[in-house]
Amino acid sequence: MKIMVIVAHPNLADSVLNKALMNEVSKLPDVRVRDLYQEYPDWQIDVEREQQLLLQYDRIVFQFPFYWYSCPPLLKKWFDDVMVHGWAFGPGGDHLKGKEFIVATTTGGGENVYRAGGHNWFTMSEYLRPFQATVTRCNGTFLPAFVSYGPSQAELPSEAKRYVEHIQSSVYALARGQ
Ligand SMILES: Cc1cc2nc3c(=O)[nH]c(=O)nc-3n(C[C@H](O)[C@H](O)[C@H](O)COP(=O)(O)O)c2cc1C
Repeated sequence: MKIMVIVAHPNLADSVLNKALMNEVSKLPDVRVRDLYQEYPDWQIDVEREQQLLLQYDRIVFQFPFYWYSCPPLLKKWFDDVMVHGWAFGPGGDHLKGKEFIVATTTGGGENVYRAGGHNWFTMSEYLRPFQATVTRCNGTFLPAFVSYGPSQAELPSEAKRYVEHIQSSVYALARGQ
């Protein structure tokens, strides 16, 4: 299976967690890892190039730090620019049919603050619904997200390993949490 990871971090130089995850996934020979903010410093997304790239991969991973209960703004712009009517959805918009999508995000808050009654009120599955809806509207398959809830420095290696396992897992294993 061909996998493309699109990393969207506005300040990767100062990142700890996304950098560690990105470094680990970059070791995989068959996975293409991209840095969106580095590729588009002027935010002028090359839509045709992005669409051609999407066609080449079976599974697309969006990796980003969770910012204000969503993704950083360049990734939002990527969705707005690339997932357009007549290409990604609507009449003639069947190019992403059968492709799999995974959101991989990192949070500042721990897992137990992301629940009803907790400090952040809702679960990450609830917060990620706009991504699920977008992918589903575009005929893609939305797979269970990878969420890294602020591990300690000592936990980084095992977290990075958990990440590479997650994004390479079969649909069957992911759906069953194996
Ligand atoms: C602008 C901004 C908004 C943030 N919003 C959230 C948030 O809504 N929820 C949360 O858990 N963490 C939030 N954080 C914390 C980041 O998610 C956290 O620092 C990041 O995932 C750590 O990854 P990194 O080391 O790769 O930067 C925010 C951080 C910034 C700078």
